[in-house]
Amino acid sequence: MKTIGVLTSGGDAPGMNAAIRAVVRTAISKGMTVKGIIRGYNGLIEGDIIDLDVRSVSDIIHRGGTFLYTARSPLFKTEEGMQKAIETCKKEGIEGIVVIGGDGSYRGARDLSERGVPCVGVPGTIDNDISSTDYTIGFDTAMNTAMEMVDKLRDTSQSHDRCSVVEVMGRHAGHIALQIGIAVGATAVLVPEVPVDMDSVIEKIRKTQKTGKEHFIIIVAEGVGGVDNIAKQIEAATGIESRATILGHVQRGGNPSVRDRVIATMLGSAAVELLDKGIGNRVICKRGNDITDMDIFEALNMKKDLNFDMLDVANCTSI
Ligand code: ADP
Ligand code: F6P
Repeated sequence: MKTIGVLTSGGDAPGMNAAIRAVVRTAISKGMTVKGIIRGYNGLIEGDIIDLDVRSVSDIIHRGGTFLYTARSPLFKTEEGMQKAIETCKKEGIEGIVVIGGDGSYRGARDLSERGVPCVGVPGTIDNDISSTDYTIGFDTAMNTAMEMVDKLRDTSQSHDRCSVVEVMGRHAGHIALQIGIAVGATAVLVPEVPVDMDSVIEKIRKTQKTGKEHFIIIVAEGVGGVDNIAKQIEAATGIESRATILGHVQRGGNPSVRDRVIATMLGSAAVELLDKGIGNRVICKRGNDITDMDIFEALNMKKDLNFDMLDVANCTSI
């Protein structure tokens, strides 16, 4: 391929910029031309395309967000939107695209690949909920942000002998909640993968209180929700003053961690290696220490479970 495009799509994630930089520089070092597609699939539909050279991606490796912007594009899910996107590719001479995003973005990449524009997906979402890969760009930074915020809450919770009920991101998956729960020593972790049992949460608080625990942290994944109600239930049942906090989008921002910058660079570069060989319709995966790739269809049909062994450890180390 002589000309490739790169876009970021869905929710932004710290490290996306590092991935874009890797795509641009790897492609240029192979003699390719790179086009930046602005605001995800919307940019393809509207023809919002910029030329990217080596210096276009200077000074972004350490920045959160995505300098190409990102968006959710309902029109792209229609045949009309898809055809407009294909016309833009023809007009701009884009022969293949690196799509950095989550599962939804992979579906778009699959549809474009089927229609003759080979795409390679790079996993980018703070939720780490893409089945084909152990790791997604942004997960580490988001968790470090969440941990820092919960540590701050712990100070005030400790001072007042309170219970802090904290919602972290993860609409469909509890990966962030689980690891944060362990990292902050939460008394309980509530995830969408396990039915909520408030009786056992309250029982655990009572039990730990009897052994001298004076303040409590409960981590709740966004997909479970209802933190205000959970806090009220805990206060009513135990008499412990409780406060609810939703960390929200703060978790999506900030300078990417070392892990996110390095992995994003490796994943972005691997995507270009495939397009350079004329291979599309694939996704890049991190498996153990290896960077590999897989068919998009296969990737989208996989299921990623929560690490239930880790959940057991979280529960038994927070007694
Ligand atoms: P993420 O990539 O983070 O999972 P979304 O699910 O919002 O985020 O998907 C991002 C974009 O990918 C959507 O706005 C849409 O343009 C495209 N997309 C999502 N699902 C599909 C689908 N089934 N077919 C085609 N495109 C899709
Ligand atoms: O990026 C994934 C995610 O952070 C989810 O955990 C969350 O539910 C969603 O994005 C929120 O996205 P937005 O508010 O940008 O639509």
